[in-house]
Amino acid sequence: MIDPLATLLAWLEEAKARGVHEPEAMVLATATLDASPSARVVLFRGLTDEGALRFFTNYESRKARELDDNPRAALTFHWAVLGKQVRVEGRVARLAPAASDAYFAGRPRLSQIGAWVSPQSRPIPSLNELVERRSEREAEFAGGAVPRPPFWGGYGLVPSRVELWTSGEGRFHDRRLFERDGQGWTLAILAP
Ligand SMILES: Cc1cc2nc3c(=O)[nH]c(=O)nc-3n(C[C@H](O)[C@H](O)[C@H](O)COP(=O)(O)O)c2cc1C
Repeated sequence: MIDPLATLLAWLEEAKARGVHEPEAMVLATATLDASPSARVVLFRGLTDEGALRFFTNYESRKARELDDNPRAALTFHWAVLGKQVRVEGRVARLAPAASDAYFAGRPRLSQIGAWVSPQSRPIPSLNELVERRSEREAEFAGGAVPRPPFWGGYGLVPSRVELWTSGEGRFHDRRLFERDGQGWTLAILAP
């Protein structure tokens, strides 16, 4: 049986080849303990060796607080030009600190400093204030590497369900639902 994660990577490459802007953008849905959902776009940053989908964010953000309480989450990719959608559901866990360090080290310096100064998801007096704080931090880190803030890092979503969706004529879309079964997957075709 085909591996749906291999198909996800292949579709992503297809989207890049077609010149899609932000092809790695995916909607991340989380929910509070009392089941209130929230969703936002984050960037897909590759698979772990265990096949978890990686993304990086602030560990004190709204999404992170919701994931601390309830690690079940969903991700959705959509590439309009390909007529394709991928839906993924599973549990999320923080990456090992070394993996977050390695990713952070490769980010542009301005983004590294931005991670230090932005208290993501919390109210701020103004964006200007953050710009000032960024200048202060830039001076502080001048001449050296910017370390990863302890409150910033990666997550991996371990998929238990993956749906590969391809647009079809007359709304007869092709829907293939893969569900984890040990090391493999079971496949069901769903009505569009
Ligand atoms: C194209 C795009 C990519 C984004 N990528 C990320 C990302 O990788 N990580 C992140 O924390 N926020 C990213 N954001 C911002 C989030 O959508 C969101 O505003 C932020 O993470 C705060 O969400 P929260 O308050 O629900 O935690 C991205 C937004 C867009 C539009």
